[in-house]
Amino acid sequence: MTSVNDLKRQAAEKAVDFVESGMVLGLGTGSTASYAVQKIGELLQAGKLRGIVGVPTSEATAALARQYGIPLSSLADHPVIDLAIDGADEIDPHLDLIKGLGGALLREKMIELEARRFIVVADAGKLVDRLGTRSPVPVEVTRFGWRHQARWLESLGCIPNLRGGESDPFITDNGNYILDCTFPNGIDNPAELDTILHNRTGVVEHGLFLGMATDAVVAGPDGLRLLRR
Ligand code: A5P
Repeated sequence: MTSVNDLKRQAAEKAVDFVESGMVLGLGTGSTASYAVQKIGELLQAGKLRGIVGVPTSEATAALARQYGIPLSSLADHPVIDLAIDGADEIDPHLDLIKGLGGALLREKMIELEARRFIVVADAGKLVDRLGTRSPVPVEVTRFGWRHQARWLESLGCIPNLRGGESDPFITDNGNYILDCTFPNGIDNPAELDTILHNRTGVVEHGLFLGMATDAVVAGPDGLRLLRR
């Protein structure tokens, strides 16, 4: 039987077929996106790709890309991304996403918003009919006042959990905390929640990626599916 990791690799490597020499690439974070980073590095080393510049979505991805010899840059120097490839925690039928269980949601969203094309790569277990049914929504908040934000988030109908717990909280690359917000029946109106969260001072970013992915490559036991928004 094909393992979930095999499926992740198949999806990621298929997305790399769309990479062309000379492109500026958004390099995603997480176990699925890592397969794409490795494949891009291998193609560069083999001389099958040239002139690639990678803009990494996390410190971990930057380290992996350096290990594979991918030249790196930043949004300041490369503000337009030709193609971003990244994983997701949930993908709905409109290719709206929940992301951020890997903790890199802020940089992912900043970079993927600038992408002409954003291909999300995943195993078929990430497909959902309704966002919030499989994964919590990660909400990155300032450390200052996080308990206050947790209480406010509860008032939106979710159960927030400080990632890592109070004794050893997870700290993002940006120095913030993450509150993983579980919506017991999924999210009724993701667009409304997106607006509410964006308008809240002290919320730095959240893991709803709406209207951003242009394509998805999804690998299941029956093969690969290419979806377009
Ligand atoms: C990283 O912050 C996340 O957005 C990941 O892209 C997402 O959690 C998917 O990760 P896996 O590919 O490891 O499942």
